[in-house]
Amino acid sequence: MSNAGVEPHPIVLPGNECLILRTIQSQDAEGLQAYVRGLSSESRRNRFLGTLSELAPTRLDDLIRMCGPRHVVLLALTQIGSKLQTVAEAMLMVAPDSERGEIALSVTDIWQHRGLGTVLITHLEVRAKRVGVRYLFGDVLRTNTAMKGLARKSGYSVRTLFTDARLVEIVKDLAPANARSARQAG
Ligand SMILES: CC(C)(COP(=O)(O)OP(=O)(O)OC[C@H]1O[C@@H](n2cnc3c(N)ncnc32)[C@H](O)[C@@H]1OP(=O)(O)O)[C@@H](O)C(=O)NCCC(=O)NCCS
Repeated sequence: MSNAGVEPHPIVLPGNECLILRTIQSQDAEGLQAYVRGLSSESRRNRFLGTLSELAPTRLDDLIRMCGPRHVVLLALTQIGSKLQTVAEAMLMVAPDSERGEIALSVTDIWQHRGLGTVLITHLEVRAKRVGVRYLFGDVLRTNTAMKGLARKSGYSVRTLFTDARLVEIVKDLAPANARSARQAG
């Protein structure tokens, strides 16, 4: 697998808290599982669209392999003593030859509403553009006010999904506004 990961680099939140952002690595399996177990049941349900207490081994395995340009999991980490602890994760998946990319993310409960979700979704967009993605989308529980709020604030539209009444789809066209209007005019 190509090493197209993100080198660890600092990110600063609006409240001046500093975190480290980097691509997931194979040694993150235990930390990611601990992170998922540590989410509130509501946050877990919102992130994984159903009830679970931890990641199934196959799903965990799939996630820690996502370190390429088209399939990536980004982790935000905080330093606790000499250890780094995961406080958020953000995923981008782009199928081969597709101009659509799927995103999903979560922030651990005590770090929510401090601007981290906004930073992560922006990073996913930058990475998606780099691999030629035009549209980003994600499935979100209809009841997930926080994610719908983050999505709207970040320029996504929120659409009803007729295939599943529990869900809405968030979608963003990543093309610059002038390119969009040129396409519409042509
Ligand atoms: C959705 C989630 C990722 C947002 O992350 P966050 O770090 O809290 O988001 P931010 O602090 O950047 O907030 C950005 C905007 O989101 C909205 N928002 C965030 N938390 C909210 C809440 N509890 N209620 C309503 N709106 C909220 C607001 O519009 C906010 O803008 P504001 O700060 O100007 O009010 C986070 O709540 C989370 O991890 N939830 C559980 C998992 C989940 O729902 N994942 C989405 C599956 S795709």
